[in-house]
Amino acid sequence: MNLYVQTSRVHGRASPLLYGHFLEHFHRQIYGGVFAPGHPLADEDGFRMDVLEALRHIKVPILRWPGGCFVSAYHWQKGVGQNRVASFDKAWRVEDSNRFGTDEFIKLCRKIGCAPYLCTNAGTGTLEEMSDWVEYCNLTKQGEFAKQRIANGFPSPHQVKYWSIGNENYGSWELGAKAPEEWSRLVLEAAKLMKHVDPTLSLSAAAIADIDWNLHLLRAAGHQLDWISIHAYWDAIHNTNALATYGQTMAYTQSLGESIDKVRGLLTALGLQTSIKIAFDEWNLRGWYHPGMHTAQLARTEAEYLTPRDANDDNSAYTMADAVFTACFLNELNRNCDIVGMANFAPAVNTRGCIYTHDKGIVLRTTYHVFDLYVNHLLPTVVDAYCEEMPLAVFTDKQNCPVQVNQLDVIATVGDTADQVVLAVVNKAEYDAVELSVQIDQRKPLRYCCLTLDGETANSYNDVDVQGASIRSTPWQPAASPLRLRISPHSVNIIKVEMPR
Ligand code: AHR
Repeated sequence: MNLYVQTSRVHGRASPLLYGHFLEHFHRQIYGGVFAPGHPLADEDGFRMDVLEALRHIKVPILRWPGGCFVSAYHWQKGVGQNRVASFDKAWRVEDSNRFGTDEFIKLCRKIGCAPYLCTNAGTGTLEEMSDWVEYCNLTKQGEFAKQRIANGFPSPHQVKYWSIGNENYGSWELGAKAPEEWSRLVLEAAKLMKHVDPTLSLSAAAIADIDWNLHLLRAAGHQLDWISIHAYWDAIHNTNALATYGQTMAYTQSLGESIDKVRGLLTALGLQTSIKIAFDEWNLRGWYHPGMHTAQLARTEAEYLTPRDANDDNSAYTMADAVFTACFLNELNRNCDIVGMANFAPAVNTRGCIYTHDKGIVLRTTYHVFDLYVNHLLPTVVDAYCEEMPLAVFTDKQNCPVQVNQLDVIATVGDTADQVVLAVVNKAEYDAVELSVQIDQRKPLRYCCLTLDGETANSYNDVDVQGASIRSTPWQPAASPLRLRISPHSVNIIKVEMPR
């Protein structure tokens, strides 16, 4: 199969924020995940040092917090200061000690070296609670909230640039959900108040790929927004944990760009495509497993709604299916980097995240290695990559219907000089390798090397005593022209090609 790369045809420059992450007060993401005061592997501030190191290695550029559904009944002031009183988390129906709050989150971001991204409570919260949070974080010393921050031991402002108004307030499952016209007015007024505190904020609002919701929001408040937030979990197994198989997962790749296309169309129709970017600020192949919550009839006992959440910690669930899907979606984000400016993998630690914590250390799940490959090897400018005679693969989806998709998913990237091209090539086939012939411009490549993430089978995974999927690399070697490569089945590949200047 022939792959043609045209470095002169540029899709756009991908923001590093496409590789962002998300942490919510849910199950073991914060408590027992990244934050474990007194744990032997925790530092002086209570953060797991092995987790911090792993997050730094994948250069997490931005971290969204505290939710997610959790935020829609969260009151930030309970999580700052010396005398923290535990709250009942109405979203997830557990007690939250409030030991981890704004100041701990900022410390976490500083230790990782990433930008903090705060999502405000537009469910039960008030406009002033949102803007008071901006005062607490961003004012030097004016007013009571900045003075509170100083009294709490933080003399300098936290300088939080990225903020979102609300989380999925369109959804019946969300506490304090809103109707479109209600939402548009709330966002407009909240944005005004927050920007009166700090007009430099980079501001988003909860949205969905729905015309009615977005028309109301963008017509009323579009001029106040820098971003529009959308979310996606393709394997929506929140109540069943009936994980999609490898083939069913590949069937999902047919609809990767659906939300982006719809929101792009609407932004363009309203003439906002240059002033507002998409923040895909929650995404994962797998929906989180929390039965009896987003249902009309809530589960009653902890055995029904709390204990089952532990099933998210089953590392064998996160196979090469998750890695291949994640790479395909990161490719989709890169292809749309002109309109998508941020994305946040949901979540980073535990639940369906890329890092799993246990008492003696961490497990780097297959998806972690995808971020390692993309963040540490891809180049920023996305250029045209065209596959001639793309082989098609047919998978059976969860409705037992055949779905035809491209067998390969490919992007090509270049840096500021013309001497290197880096490809990300994903082979979705469960069993079939592909022989690829690569032609880059009309130039003869000098040498190349490959980094390949795969496992023995499509169901390979990593666990405490299992290393089923890992990255293997080939040394630099002379390149023929065209460059010929064998792309193994169920694999994610970074191919670095050195070109003559
Ligand atoms: O399943 C977790 C939830 O998914 C997040 O809290 C919410 O933002 C999304 O609906």
